[in-house]
Amino acid sequence: MLRAVVLVGGVPVAGLLVLMLAGWAEPLPAFIAILATLAAAFVFGWAWLGTLAGLEADLRAAADGKPVPPRLPLLPAAARVADSAARLSRGLAEREAMLRQLRRTDAAIIDALPDPLLVMREDREVLRANPAARRFLGTGSDGVADTAALLRHPRIAAAVDDALAEGEPQSAEVMLPLPVPQDLSIHAIPLDPPLSDGGCLMLVLADRTQARAAERMRADFVTNASHELRTPLASIIGFVETLRGPAKDDPEAGSRFLDIIATQAERMRRLVEDLLSLSRIEMAEHRAPAGEARLDSLARDEAAAMAPILTARNVTLALELTPATATPADAGELAQVIRNLLENAVRHGRDGGTVRLSVRHLAAPEGGLAPGVMLGVADDGPGIAREHIPRLTERFYRVDAGRSRAAGGTGLGLAIVKHIVAHHRGQLLIDSTVGQGTVMRVWLPGR
Ligand SMILES: Nc1ncnc2c1ncn2[C@@H]1O[C@H](COP(=O)(O)OP(=O)(O)OP(=O)(O)O)[C@@H](O)[C@H]1O
Ligand SMILES: [Mg+2]
Repeated sequence: MLRAVVLVGGVPVAGLLVLMLAGWAEPLPAFIAILATLAAAFVFGWAWLGTLAGLEADLRAAADGKPVPPRLPLLPAAARVADSAARLSRGLAEREAMLRQLRRTDAAIIDALPDPLLVMREDREVLRANPAARRFLGTGSDGVADTAALLRHPRIAAAVDDALAEGEPQSAEVMLPLPVPQDLSIHAIPLDPPLSDGGCLMLVLADRTQARAAERMRADFVTNASHELRTPLASIIGFVETLRGPAKDDPEAGSRFLDIIATQAERMRRLVEDLLSLSRIEMAEHRAPAGEARLDSLARDEAAAMAPILTARNVTLALELTPATATPADAGELAQVIRNLLENAVRHGRDGGTVRLSVRHLAAPEGGLAPGVMLGVADDGPGIAREHIPRLTERFYRVDAGRSRAAGGTGLGLAIVKHIVAHHRGQLLIDSTVGQGTVMRVWLPGR
């Protein structure tokens, strides 16, 4: 303050003093003039310093991103500076808000990505893991994704090293063994320039387990289907050759061979029919069936049609049918479910055994199932070992391929049942005890 007073009032006061001491000015008026000059210098210095302090506070607030209130400084020239400070502060605040919004959008995009994603620093420390990554890798007690085992995998470590060294994205196919085997496509993508938090590499893990399984299944399906067709076809061709050649003049052998040809042709017809109905059901699977079906009367009709094979295997069929209507339903498809399950119980059950076919209405939820209709087929045959049960509904899966084939089975029966049940938004439940028998139950929505 003192300096401001001296700076503003020093020269006029010194002039007045000189005039007074030299006797060129009366002492009293000169003294009054000195006092007035000092007072004016003081007021000016106060206004000046006050304005500067206010501007300084505004600039500091602007730099900290705080709002700057409009100010009307005492010194008119300072008003423009104050206005610029306020505008600067508003611009900075807007940019800050925009940055925050961008950062939030980035985080939301990363979090919403369905594939696991990690962001890493150059020293391989993981800075961020999206929820998919946390779900996929599991988290430690601190809630942080468990990435150590993943990043130790030699192929992943090599892809990360190469991406950082070359600055180019790297990909690798990886099979992670534990806890459930997973087929992964990993992509290491360098970030240039690095993120503000030092993140300079993005690691994306795409789960290909299901896609690979589907590819394998499709390839297996074609192989299996051609194999199943090739065997009876080879047999038919072989016997036709024999009939044309060596057995041409042997009517007895000829009629035996014709029987074999007829059996093999019938096997091929069944296989083609099953394949066609499987693809028909699969195509319609996304559309729920429109009608409704009385499951008890369908079961009664199918049981009656089963008479010849029941007699052949000396099997007793016990019916426990109560009126129940499945809805939505396709009567033809549900009849096929009953037929396939009954055939299995008779063919894979016990010679001279008993098969129980039941239909009942579930009025209240039962065993985790909503109210609906329950169809049950139980046999007292050899049963199925536990390890086979999850695979029974795969196409061509047979516990004992030789026996099933000899019995005329194609291995497609339960695959068809599974698809029909899925088409009806129902559930297939398989229980079996080796040595005691098998129970196949189908739950369907209905009343
Ligand atoms: N009730 C059952 N008891 C024992 N094993 C069974 C029973 N039902 C099915 N299986 C086993 O499951 C396998 C698959 O059954 P699925 O009905 O799909 O084929 P399949 O009966 O062999 O041939 P098909 O296509 O003619 O039905 C059978 O080969 C058999 O090994
Ligand atoms: Mg079957």
